[in-house]
Amino acid sequence: MRARVLSGMRPTGALHLGHYHGALKNWVRLQAEYECFFFVADWHALTTHYEERDVMERYVYDMVTDWIAAGLDPEQSTLFIQSRLPEHAELFTLLAMGTPLGWLERVPTYKDQIDKLKDRDLATYGFLGYPLLQAADILIYRASYVPVGEDQASHVELTREVARRFNHLYGRPVDFADRVAAALAKLGKDDARYFEKQRKAFGETGAAEALAKGENLVARAAREVAGWTSDDSEWLLGHLKGSGKSVLTEPQALHTEVSKLPGLDGTKMSKSYGNTIAMREAPDKVDAKVMKMPTDPQRVRRTDAGNPDRCPVWQFHKVYSDEATRQWVQQGCTTAGIGCTDCKRPLIEAIQREQKVWIERAEPYLAEPKKIHWIIEMGTERARTVARQTMHDVREAMGLSYR
Ligand code: TRP
Ligand code: SF4
Repeated sequence: MRARVLSGMRPTGALHLGHYHGALKNWVRLQAEYECFFFVADWHALTTHYEERDVMERYVYDMVTDWIAAGLDPEQSTLFIQSRLPEHAELFTLLAMGTPLGWLERVPTYKDQIDKLKDRDLATYGFLGYPLLQAADILIYRASYVPVGEDQASHVELTREVARRFNHLYGRPVDFADRVAAALAKLGKDDARYFEKQRKAFGETGAAEALAKGENLVARAAREVAGWTSDDSEWLLGHLKGSGKSVLTEPQALHTEVSKLPGLDGTKMSKSYGNTIAMREAPDKVDAKVMKMPTDPQRVRRTDAGNPDRCPVWQFHKVYSDEATRQWVQQGCTTAGIGCTDCKRPLIEAIQREQKVWIERAEPYLAEPKKIHWIIEMGTERARTVARQTMHDVREAMGLSYR
């Protein structure tokens, strides 16, 4: 079975090239290798923009259209919307009960964002709790890997702590001792005695060898003992290590190489700075926007030599151009051999070439928007099957599965 990857994106409407090169391109690559769950984090958008109800729906569908345009394949990847699965909220609530406030106050993005978004009142309960909501998003799918940017690494770390604490608090059922005894009985007297000896040795000295011997015995039992179940293995392994069953899975952040594309003015590409090129921007607009890009400020006249390191156009070449073109830019710029208009020409072509595929892929969905709705519908149901199973196990572990 392929390991599961989960990631989410806030619905910001049509995506721009910064989103594509910084995250989406990576998602498209991952879907070939992993079982991928990608979702629209609409509740997360509300943690900072809770009043923006009039744009939400359009933003959600525009973004999913861009996901598909970029090459996310709804047959391969499970695409869905967070708010369609109330299970996320249920897990968030249950995790909230035992999560110390300090864990959330210490998340670095908390203070950063409050400083950065000074014009918004972020002294809300939802904003403080949002990394825990993210933890619930991840844990509910028992994801092994979470592709996130550097800025979100602390959220994955929090998720791991939350899972560990949950397993510690609730991993052992009330009748744990009985279940262990039943599994030991299945092993037979000699093996059970041998197992207990290894467990004691590991507990007292932490000897890796004893742990390995105990694990090997469980693995052999799983292969050879009639009537052995995977639960028997879990209970005995928990018994061996002094832990319980792992109800929630500790995920790992997946840091992959992504290219950083700045905005047209050289600062971070962001809709609020008005320095973006949309993924499906009209070709003539792309032309106009790139032609207007500022260049090396010290290259005032065509005859002045320039320095690409001072020029945002060069940052784009680093993402879009091959080695030969990049050498032509370096050489031409530093010797005043080419003008900035010449320099921008191949860049415009490269961007438009990349965009052509996206524009074509999006066409049938724009002609029939229902198609996007169906894709989301299918993904939501696939996600629901997994989320329900986890919640069933979580409720049982917490003593909430009234029958
Ligand atoms: N917090 C992420 C962001 O703002 C979005 C997100 C929400 C997410 N839940 C997630 C990312 C779970 C990865 C996994 O970009
Ligand atoms: Fe920038 Fe190219 Fe002009 Fe040099 S020639 S300043 S790299 S646009």
